[in-house]
Amino acid sequence: MRQLEGAFALIFKSAHYPNELIACMRGSTLILGVKELADDKVRGKLFHDVKDLTKDEKPKELFFSSDLCAIVEHTKNYLAIEDNEVVHIKDGCVSILKFDYGREKPASVQRALSVLEMEVEQIKKGNYDHFMQKEIYEQPHSLTTTMRGRLKDNSVVLGGLKEHLKTIRHSRRIIFIGCGTSYNAALAARSLFEELSGIPVTMELASDLQDRQGPIYREDTAVFVSQSGETADTLLALEYALANGALCVGVTNTVGSTIARKTHCGIHINAGCEIGVASTKAYTSQIVAMAMMALAIGADRISTQARRQSIVDDLSNLPNKVSEVLKLDGEMRDLAESLIDTQSLLVFGRGYNYATALEGALKVKEVALTHSEGMLAGEMKHGPLALVDETLPIIVIATRDACFSKQQSAIQQLHARKGRLIIMCSEGDASSVRPVESCKVIEVPRVADCLQPVINIIPLQLLAYHLTVLRGFDVDQPRNLAKSVTTQ
Ligand code: M6R
Repeated sequence: MRQLEGAFALIFKSAHYPNELIACMRGSTLILGVKELADDKVRGKLFHDVKDLTKDEKPKELFFSSDLCAIVEHTKNYLAIEDNEVVHIKDGCVSILKFDYGREKPASVQRALSVLEMEVEQIKKGNYDHFMQKEIYEQPHSLTTTMRGRLKDNSVVLGGLKEHLKTIRHSRRIIFIGCGTSYNAALAARSLFEELSGIPVTMELASDLQDRQGPIYREDTAVFVSQSGETADTLLALEYALANGALCVGVTNTVGSTIARKTHCGIHINAGCEIGVASTKAYTSQIVAMAMMALAIGADRISTQARRQSIVDDLSNLPNKVSEVLKLDGEMRDLAESLIDTQSLLVFGRGYNYATALEGALKVKEVALTHSEGMLAGEMKHGPLALVDETLPIIVIATRDACFSKQQSAIQQLHARKGRLIIMCSEGDASSVRPVESCKVIEVPRVADCLQPVINIIPLQLLAYHLTVLRGFDVDQPRNLAKSVTTQ
């Protein structure tokens, strides 16, 4: 371990040492699950030397995992192994040692077992065919749990940030850092942050930030967005921001994850366990968690009070609106059927829904294995317009917000080039956006402009899901991809 660099969690087993196992970790997650101890014996018990627990009681089953979700069907009792600790299991007995730099001898570790707050149903498909489908349908509930206890008396209370709000308000810049879907969620929240905080917000893909070694200062607040809390690129960017003295805030879905542990403060999005590789419910919960964060940061500004109030009202009603939009499932299945042979799909968005375009296209490419690009409609004339013809399907997001008339004009221009258009608009707007009667329109419920990305992504998640099933691909574990990308 002294010679290794970077983050790792390793388990060693050797034919030369039967009935023995060694595990160790640094900067990653390693969970030791302990089964068959009655709750009253386990809770709060010091895990000083598991021989204590195994000598005079029945032998226990022990599990190693890099994710809490993986042990819940076996046991709820676990120990989170910490940096530079080594676990030694021999003949069913466990001992844990910590190797600290500069110290010759390792110290024996004493820590109480924790009890997992998760139900086994969360990792079962129930009546659904796939986890992705289940997780799409769970969104009214996951959004409710993201907001539970946090919207109070028309304001937002975020316990994990309370002590740091003042520092964030005084930052020179807020930097959002993430990868994939988490980056897209941050992008969806960006303009609300700028509007309510008055602080410039910049976006960083974690890998690119490291490649450039982009400047980060003590006066910055760096917000790390990650469903798993274990993504290697995001973690390395976190180490970098910590070394540069920035205030580091985590937005994760995994209590006890490395990002949750290493950041100075943060918010758990509480979306529940997400198993499908394609992130769905975590995405919408991340947006809502970040919208709440923007509201909390901006809470000291009288000038935005009315705006904040209307957002809080719409947040409370958001789960109902999500239930409504889920009714488009059949329609999206039909649309998927009409796109089954398509080679490519473009998604144009703008303003709040530029992120929706990126995320919708990411869903289609990662599970339906169909080439798809999300594009900023403002960039259309600077290149992408050359692709337009009657064969290439193009989804244009044109729900009501400040960019609506610009999107109407983009639709006209695409139609003039004979584009095969599919338009997403707010309920009742079909006739205002449709260039010809035959044009496919997806009408979605209307919410506050900054929350509209939460609604708009759902038909695209359903489209990606159905396209994948119809094309016969693996929805939950698309080829070549992993749920947590723990390597660079
Ligand atoms: O766990 P994270 O949110 O940090 O993961 C980042 C990306 O790997 C992840 O969002 C990926 O893009 C999704 N699986 C896409 O659906």
